[in-house]
Amino acid sequence: MRLSYRDQGQGPATVFLHAFPLDQTMWDEQAASLIKERRVVTFDWPGFGQSPTTAPDPETTGLDGMVAEVIELLDHLGLDQVDLCGLSMGGYAALALYRSFPDRVRSLILCDTKATADPPATRQARQEMAELAVREGSAALIPLMLPRLLGASTLRRPADPLPERIAEMIRRSTPQGVVRALHAMATRTATMDLLGSIRVPTLVVVGEEDILSTPAEMREMAAAIPQATLQVIEDAGHLPNLEQPTVFLQALRSGLP
Ligand code: MLT
Repeated sequence: MRLSYRDQGQGPATVFLHAFPLDQTMWDEQAASLIKERRVVTFDWPGFGQSPTTAPDPETTGLDGMVAEVIELLDHLGLDQVDLCGLSMGGYAALALYRSFPDRVRSLILCDTKATADPPATRQARQEMAELAVREGSAALIPLMLPRLLGASTLRRPADPLPERIAEMIRRSTPQGVVRALHAMATRTATMDLLGSIRVPTLVVVGEEDILSTPAEMREMAAAIPQATLQVIEDAGHLPNLEQPTVFLQALRSGLP
């Protein structure tokens, strides 16, 4: 298995898909609690955390390649069906996985993500971000990403260790991993048409102050999915599991079958 992963606990399995440009340690708080009652699998996408960048050409893989990597991991771990929790880029991958492999999914938890494709301006911005990462290294993304990822309430908290924890995750990523993920996000297709045919219980979670995947967009997503419930997390931006871990955990538990 090429991906670096953690497989902890016993019982029904929940698999967590991390956001861009972070790594599996973003799920540490959730994993520490849930492993008392469930099997919890987290992993690093290639080029993030401890997973090597494996694709020879990082621009060829796309979101389908990321889905194939998750399926390979599920097969490796002998997991036929899982509860799938993805945040942002992890949510794009979770929806794409559900589209191709609905039988592998028992329930979905879609956090701070979108079912729309990128508009041209976002694609262009991703291209520029990829060039920046190659030219100056992944750390150059830190000042760009922090104000987008964290909500205003978090950014106002004095001496909060969270920005540095996130910066550290970004420093661990390789420029090739960043380029590959940006390319996969920029070339993803919309999954709006899929939402109405999702047949598994789905929890939709969004930070009230998220400016990347807004509560309005997430409300629309939840309304389009037959068995969805929506949880809006106060005083959190794009990363409610890190910004409000206790409230997020309650929401997560309410969504897991
Ligand atoms: C993420 O949090 O995974 C990304 O910021 C999502 C995106 O850029 O669309």
